[in-house]
Amino acid sequence: MSNVVPFERRAAGRPDLAGSPRRGMLAIVLASAMTGTGKTMLAAHLAVEAGRGGDAPVGILDTDPKGSLAEWFRRRHGGIGQPAHAAHVDMADLAEAVTAMAARGCRLCFIDTPSGPAEAIAPAIEAVGLVIVPSDADPGGTADAVALARSIAGRATVAFVTNGRSHSGEKTGNALAALGAGLGWPAGMVRHADLYPLAMTAGRTVGECQPEGYAAADIAELWATIRGILVAG
Ligand SMILES: Nc1ncnc2c1ncn2[C@@H]1O[C@H](COP(=O)(O)OP(=O)(O)OP(=O)(O)O)[C@@H](O)[C@H]1O
Ligand SMILES: [Mg+2]
Repeated sequence: MSNVVPFERRAAGRPDLAGSPRRGMLAIVLASAMTGTGKTMLAAHLAVEAGRGGDAPVGILDTDPKGSLAEWFRRRHGGIGQPAHAAHVDMADLAEAVTAMAARGCRLCFIDTPSGPAEAIAPAIEAVGLVIVPSDADPGGTADAVALARSIAGRATVAFVTNGRSHSGEKTGNALAALGAGLGWPAGMVRHADLYPLAMTAGRTVGECQPEGYAAADIAELWATIRGILVAG
């Protein structure tokens, strides 16, 4: 993949993620042109998964005026993988907020954004190493994800996630195959689970609500793949 800039592998065994130039912190943005693709859900779940998997401290930044990620964090009561720092910021102030997260010692920072075109979230794209683009696993969703990745090309590494929130999952394999066309990494998928909205409303994750469930397994597998993309390219 020509536009993909892999991060340096730092050590044998489980490599350190701190290969980013931003004082050791790696920032990851969730972005999509369409609304409701799962950006906020994934920012929350991947942040906790990364934290409990040994990449703590993790920060979260909400740049969406709706503040859903910030609200989720307010409802939390701690727990394993709890994000160490969280802030709700204007997109215009994002670069400063990312620097502040790094200064607080975060190793990773997940940034949620409002839906919209790449230009609307340009400060987020400039601030990060990896952009995760979730999409519905249908032709329209796939096309939107590809268009967004095309407008990001060369500025950050892109990882696609198909989200089967609105169907039973039969379409995700095809969608991922279509997304692996050279603009980014087809990182994986999450299946539909009624538990996601319930967990998010309660300030929790599906893994915290139902550790043995398939949704928890989807998130764990997705983060393992994304982490692999970050460290190995
Ligand atoms: N795989 C899934 N299965 C079931 N529900 C899901 C799934 N993924 C996300 N959801 C739910 O779908 C809704 C939309 O998800 P979310 O808010 O994360 O999308 P978003 O991209 O952040 O939306 P917006 O663009 O409005 O900010 C939420 O209620 C969320 O809990
Ligand atoms: Mg959102």
